Amino acid sequence: MITQVLVLNGPNLGRLGAREPEVYGSASFEDLAELCRSTGRKLGLSVDVRQTDDERELISWVHEAADARMPVVLNPAAFTHYSYALRDALAMRTAPLVEVHISNPAARESFRHTSVVAAVADGTVAGFGLVSYQLALQAIAELAAEQATGQPGPPLEEPAEPLDPDKPTEP
Ligand code: DQA
Repeated sequence: MITQVLVLNGPNLGRLGAREPEVYGSASFEDLAELCRSTGRKLGLSVDVRQTDDERELISWVHEAADARMPVVLNPAAFTHYSYALRDALAMRTAPLVEVHISNPAARESFRHTSVVAAVADGTVAGFGLVSYQLALQAIAELAAEQATGQPGPPLEEPAEPLDPDKPTEP
């Protein structure tokens, strides 16, 4: 069964590539969207990537996800740090939620050290550039499989052969 997932992005993330590339990298928002969709395909997820600068619109997407029991990967951008309205909307969720950040807010200005969203998410991935989104989608795939079957999801990548502790590893 294909799981539908929303990847939601808050203000200024549509400017990726042009926006402070030393912090957020040189990939564009379209590059990010394509990476999320292709990562989703490998994980058996159908990924819909959206971005808005508008708090009202972001909250309406969170409501839509709750009504449809859809998992969400969310980069709330600056709303992370102060939007109680977004947090209250997320508290109504009915499916897994992973908070994601491109940079590591904990290593930046002090106003970024608070997330009003973190406590209503299953977890947070931050600081790995666009890979943060790939890790978040991996977590969503695991959580969705667990929810559907009551069992942990299958391992994402099986090693080619089991590691033999007596065999020296190749240089
Ligand atoms: C961000 C971090 C936030 O502090 C900032 O306001 C953003 C992007 C990130 O992805 O690193 O807009 O969420």
